[in-house]
Amino acid sequence: MSERSVLHGDADLDRQASGDGRGSSNGQSATLSYDGRTTELPVIRGSEGEPAIDIGRLRAETGLITMDRGYMNTGSCLSAITFLDGERGILRYRGYPIEQLAEKSSFLEVAYLLTYGELPTRAQLEAWTSDVTHHTLIHEEMRRFFDSFPYDAHPMAVLASATVGLSTFYQDSHDPFDPAAVELTIQRLIAKLPTLAAWSFKKAIGQPYVYPRNDLDYAANLLHMMFAVPAEPYEVHPDVAKALDLLLILHADHEQNCSTSTVRLVGSSQVNLYASISAGISALWGPLHGGANEAVIRTLERIAADGGNVQKYIDKAKDPNHEFKLPGFGHRVYKNFDPRATIIKTAADRVLAATGADDQLYEIARQLEEVALHDEYFVKRKLYPNVDFYSGLIYRAIGFPKNMFTNCFAIGRLPGWIAQWKEMIGSADTKIGRPRQIYTGATARDYVPLEAR
Ligand code: ACO
Repeated sequence: MSERSVLHGDADLDRQASGDGRGSSNGQSATLSYDGRTTELPVIRGSEGEPAIDIGRLRAETGLITMDRGYMNTGSCLSAITFLDGERGILRYRGYPIEQLAEKSSFLEVAYLLTYGELPTRAQLEAWTSDVTHHTLIHEEMRRFFDSFPYDAHPMAVLASATVGLSTFYQDSHDPFDPAAVELTIQRLIAKLPTLAAWSFKKAIGQPYVYPRNDLDYAANLLHMMFAVPAEPYEVHPDVAKALDLLLILHADHEQNCSTSTVRLVGSSQVNLYASISAGISALWGPLHGGANEAVIRTLERIAADGGNVQKYIDKAKDPNHEFKLPGFGHRVYKNFDPRATIIKTAADRVLAATGADDQLYEIARQLEEVALHDEYFVKRKLYPNVDFYSGLIYRAIGFPKNMFTNCFAIGRLPGWIAQWKEMIGSADTKIGRPRQIYTGATARDYVPLEAR
């Protein structure tokens, strides 16, 4: 067999958008030459003109599969939720620029937009807010669930476990194809995740669990459950609540990232939504994903303890013999700037002013950014600060301990996971996710009895 194959793209790919949310082919194709035969593969386009080769018939027609480590070139779905252009630093939810949503919207409104596809009317927003607000309590039996973890359990482990644990209390709403059950599950998840997250923190610090307050808005209620104690009144600072709401908006969706792809993949087995979201929370925990905000603060603290020598850590990150990477820099998709980082940087100034938090780490972060942005290694590799670079500083200024940062991220990402799951489960094209592989192990051999080995 000839081992050479060549893919030719259509030279004149027109930029016309289909706009129907299903991608359009416009009759274009790419030609694959392999083993003396040619195969035509359709080229489909999204509503922003992005082309993709549809390889759905590739194996059947050629015997080939594709190999794409880390899915750097692989689209796993058609999606009408979030548009991201990493080269131009563009992020839009349902067509709305993130900058406008960050300035004018609220997290619950964005959650509605992502979940249902359109901005709500006033009446829809009131009904949605009321529905979500009235599911914030968790079953009283679940208190014991928190008690059974070790005192130093990571809050992400507790959150992931508690989220799948919810499914045991709501066995009536597991069917992913029952619209009423799905609706109820969505409201329960968005309402209860802050309660679960706050209680995982209270458990870790040995304070009494604080019940939700439905007279507070979403972010203020989370702050109240996190920081209030029965012994004294707790006042939520409005600027702080606003900054937290902004962070939740910025985190709300980011198309097919690691945790979202996890939610879709797990969900494609038709398991209940609680289980799919729990899997997404576990994926988000990793330091190369949502866990990076925690790693950023650890690094800044190390630099501060080490006399503030920023250059030393830049050099370490550049050293090919060193595993250290600068947390909060670089992104699989953004190769220009992360628009969320730009918005967050402004918010960080406001929160530090409002809370009066000491800004030594913020100063080091600014120096680090300044040096990295002008360093050839970072410039050449297009490594810019990502959303996590500044979000950790805001969480810290608000008073969240480091190991709670990713829990907050999970609360923010939840509507995106839900919207993506809903789109996946509602699509007639969805199949169970099941990648293939190229096997590289031993070829067939006979079993050797124990005494003969
Ligand atoms: N510090 C130093 N060097 C880096 C960094 C960094 N933060 N990020 C990437 N590089 C280097 C790599 O070593 C590689 O160099 P090479 O070409 O000489 O081998 C090059 O830049 C390309 O990096 P990859 O790791 O191949 O890029 P990839 O797209 O696979 O990874 C990732 C992206 C995981 C985000 C990476 O940049 C990273 O590890 N960053 C630090 C962790 C982080 O901040 N994660 C949060 C991402 S945002 C989010 O999930 C919400």
